[in-house]
Amino acid sequence: MWKCGGLISFHLLVVLVQGNVAQDFRLDSHLADRSLFYLAKNSFVGRSEGDITIKNCSIETIAPEAFKNVRVNRINITGNPLSVLRRRIFSFVVVDEIYFDGNNISEIETGTFHYIYPVKEESLQILSLSHNKLRKIKRGVFSGTNFKKLMLSYNEIYYIQYAAFENMPYLLSLSLAHNKLQSIDSGIFNNFLNPTMLSVSDNKLNYIHPVAFENSTFLSLDLQRNNLSDIKKEYFANTFIGCRQEPRTNGIREKKITNAGYREARDAMRRAPDPDSMQINGK
Ligand SMILES: *[C@@H]1O[C@H](CO)[C@@H](O)[C@H](O)[C@H]1NC(C)=O
Ligand SMILES: *[C@@H]1O[C@H](CO)[C@@H](O)[C@H](O)[C@H]1NC(C)=O
Ligand SMILES: *[C@@H]1O[C@H](CO)[C@@H](O)[C@H](O)[C@H]1NC(C)=O
Ligand SMILES: *[C@@H]1O[C@H](CO)[C@@H](O)[C@H](O)[C@H]1NC(C)=O
Ligand SMILES: *[C@@H]1O[C@H](CO)[C@@H](O)[C@H](O)[C@H]1NC(C)=O
Repeated sequence: MWKCGGLISFHLLVVLVQGNVAQDFRLDSHLADRSLFYLAKNSFVGRSEGDITIKNCSIETIAPEAFKNVRVNRINITGNPLSVLRRRIFSFVVVDEIYFDGNNISEIETGTFHYIYPVKEESLQILSLSHNKLRKIKRGVFSGTNFKKLMLSYNEIYYIQYAAFENMPYLLSLSLAHNKLQSIDSGIFNNFLNPTMLSVSDNKLNYIHPVAFENSTFLSLDLQRNNLSDIKKEYFANTFIGCRQEPRTNGIREKKITNAGYREARDAMRRAPDPDSMQINGK
């Protein structure tokens, strides 16, 4: 296990010279030595197996092309004072799961996650950015990516731009739980064609646009622990909740326009003991 000191390239060189390449790359801090604050270009060049874990170091900056020509199962960077993710940090990266949890990320440039390719199939499995300082979700950061599961819980998100999640053909799970959203406008959660699990629980929602979920299919929709007192029928018009259908691999399937979503929601509300707290779940 490497300490968070010195240059990574130096460590890798040493490892290669010893002919003893560990399957996983791991940097783990000790209190006395947390001096790694910069991930340089080509830090991991040529790695072709295992995971990359950088835990609790002092990384503030990841240079462009830090991850270049890399093929690993998982990248896990956690517990660093990292605040910005720049567009070119990934270049020809093949990976299935990316975790950037528990850093200090407040800004992500558009296009950051667009030069990443999956290990298997055509979708990337997971992108997790939980426990950071994100406040705004801009269109172009996640839209146009191929992730199946996107975790944005435990941030400070109060604003989501129109179409921020459009053109994500494999998306099946999106968590925005534990953020600071006060309203859901139209144009953010419309036209979700896959049966997606969506959670917006534990926010400060007091307004949902009448067609906020129109033309979408959700396997489950969790709006618990918000400040919603008035649930209108229109919120779930032409919304399909509780679909078990598998998505087609190309992400396109026939749209179901139905009021079943509203019936589910109404039944869920009847069962809910507290009108301010409601959960709408699929069957
Ligand atoms: C990270 O290091 C800090 C001390 O700098 C320590 O308090 C904290 O428990 C460590 N976190 C983890 C997950 O190891
Ligand atoms: C990421 O690394 C941290 C620290 O080693 C660990 O606690 C956590 O479980 C890892 N996450 C995943 C998804 O492997
Ligand atoms: C986290 O980022 C904020 C700015 O967004 C900065 O003021 C703060 O010092 C950072 N904290 C750490 C631990 O790096
Ligand atoms: C839902 O689909 C209908 C029919 O295509 C369209 O007229 C309407 O604008 C869509 N609603 C939203 C909110 O996208
Ligand atoms: C709940 O929403 C109402 C407006 O609908 C607002 O006056 C109130 O302060 C909100 N409560 C909380 C705890 O955010």
